[in-house]
Amino acid sequence: MSSTPLIVAIDGPAGAGKSTVSRSLASRLGLEYLDTGAMYRAVTHAAISRGVALEDTEAVAALAGTIRLRVAHGRTSVDGVDISESIRGDAVTAAVSTVAANSAVRQVMRDLQRAWGLARAGGVIEGRDIGSVVFPDALLKVYLTASPRVRAERRVAEVGGDVDEMEKAIIQRDLKDSSRSDSPLSASSDSIVVDTAGRSVEAVVEEIVTMIAQRRTAIGS
Ligand code: DC
Repeated sequence: MSSTPLIVAIDGPAGAGKSTVSRSLASRLGLEYLDTGAMYRAVTHAAISRGVALEDTEAVAALAGTIRLRVAHGRTSVDGVDISESIRGDAVTAAVSTVAANSAVRQVMRDLQRAWGLARAGGVIEGRDIGSVVFPDALLKVYLTASPRVRAERRVAEVGGDVDEMEKAIIQRDLKDSSRSDSPLSASSDSIVVDTAGRSVEAVVEEIVTMIAQRRTAIGS
C-alpha cells in the first residue's frame, strides 16, 4: 500500500448532514475527523466573549492567530476552556458568517487545518472549502447537499422551531456563505455531489466508502 494520505474532504451547506456523515465515515475508516466549522465558531465565540468587534477584521484575525484552539473528539476548547455547547448557540450562529468571511482569519484556519492533515496519515475533514482550497489534492472530495426545505426540516426535528422560519434562516446563511469573496461555498468541479434527501446516514457512508475504494484502485494506492 502506498503512503498517499487518505484525506477525505466533505464540503457542503449547513444541514446537509456533513457532521453526522463525516463522524460515522471516520469511525468506519479508523481515521480522525476534523470539524472546521467548529474552528470558525470558536474564533467567533472568542471575539464575542472578549469584546472584539467582529467588523474589526485585523483584531479578529490577530485573536485567531493567538488563541490556543483545540477541536477534537467532538469537543472544542479555546485556551483550555471547553466551549463545545456555547459555540452552537444563537449568538455564535448568527455571527459566524461574518468571521468566516474574514480572509485573514481564513488563512490562519487553513494553516491549522493543513497542519492537522499533514500530522496524520489521513483524516475526514468537514467544511466548505476543504476540497476546493485547503486540500485540493484530497483523495476524495464529496459535496453533500439537500434542498433548504429538507435541511430546515432536519434542523427543526433536532432543535425545534418553525420550519418556514428555519428555511428562511438557512437560505440567508447559504447566501452569505456562497456570496463572500474569499472561497465562497460551492462544489468544486472535481467533487462528487451527493444529495442526502431521504437517505439514511448509513447509505451515504456506504456510498462514500465505495467511492474511496474505487478511487484508490484507480490511482493504484
Ligand atoms: O458547519 P458550521 O455551520 O458549523 O459552519 C459555521 C460557519 O463557518 C458557516 O457560516 C460556514 C463557515 N465555514 C467556512 O466558511 N469554512 C469552513 N471550512 C467551515 C465553516
